[in-house]
Amino acid sequence: ERPAFRVTAQRSGDHAYQSPDIAAALGTGLVCRFGWPVKLKGFNLEVMAHLQGDELTLGITLSPEGLYRRERVAWGRTALKGSIAYAMVRLARPRPGELLVDPMCGVGTIPIEAALAWPGLRCWGGDLSWSAVSRAALNARHVNAPVHLFRWNVRRLPLPEGSVDALVCDMPFGRRVGSHELNRRIYPPALREMARVLRVDGRAVLLTLEKRLMEQILRGDPRWRLDAVHLVNVGGLEARLYLLRRLPPRDEEVSS
Ligand SMILES: C[S@@+](CC[C@H](N)C(=O)[O-])C[C@H]1O[C@@H](n2cnc3c(N)ncnc32)[C@H](O)[C@@H]1O
Repeated sequence: ERPAFRVTAQRSGDHAYQSPDIAAALGTGLVCRFGWPVKLKGFNLEVMAHLQGDELTLGITLSPEGLYRRERVAWGRTALKGSIAYAMVRLARPRPGELLVDPMCGVGTIPIEAALAWPGLRCWGGDLSWSAVSRAALNARHVNAPVHLFRWNVRRLPLPEGSVDALVCDMPFGRRVGSHELNRRIYPPALREMARVLRVDGRAVLLTLEKRLMEQILRGDPRWRLDAVHLVNVGGLEARLYLLRRLPPRDEEVSS
């Protein structure tokens, strides 16, 4: 039987057309190819098209409710979707017994997601803001997630050198909260401190809008190896996910 379908399209980046144009073009193609009837409401199949820059991802909806919805009782203005947090943790390839840290955890989305989906992983999070840490604690308690939370400054983490296996962090974008100027002061010491606490060969998965700043810092720091960059649509903003690895110290780092 031919399914009644609709196409939903999202787009970020510079294009000479809008999302409905993508949906219309794709829908027309599917009708011509398969002869499926279009039905905007009460459809059997929803085809999702996601265009970021020049990269198009196609999929089909698997659940009527958005899978990003999570049980959370306390929100923050920059709270991340649980589904993005899950994907970030997964990219860090955590193993049981390892220590995963989000040094700027806001309301705790990343460590909570990690603790629930990777039993046996030690999940810690911290934030400069007391209010964020207390909201993270409420969220963790609500879903019984075994996370340890701290109030700390990412510039001076109270963690020994090389003690962390994986860092996963949604860094300040400088849009809804903060600014690019503030990020220019936070990012360099934050990345230096992350490199200090991460063990050699440890992984860091960092989400940011600050492409230039991030790449400038990475270029000048021999402790990081950039493995991959992925584009991620975060509330319509074209953010980047940096997959990094901590390289062994060079001679000057050992002696300093
Ligand atoms: C993009 S938000 C993280 C949101 C988080 N993923 C969530 O789901 O709520 C960035 C966080 O960095 C925190 N932050 C900013 N400067 C910091 C610093 N110096 N040390 C630690 N955390 C800091 C902010 O308080 C904010 O919660």
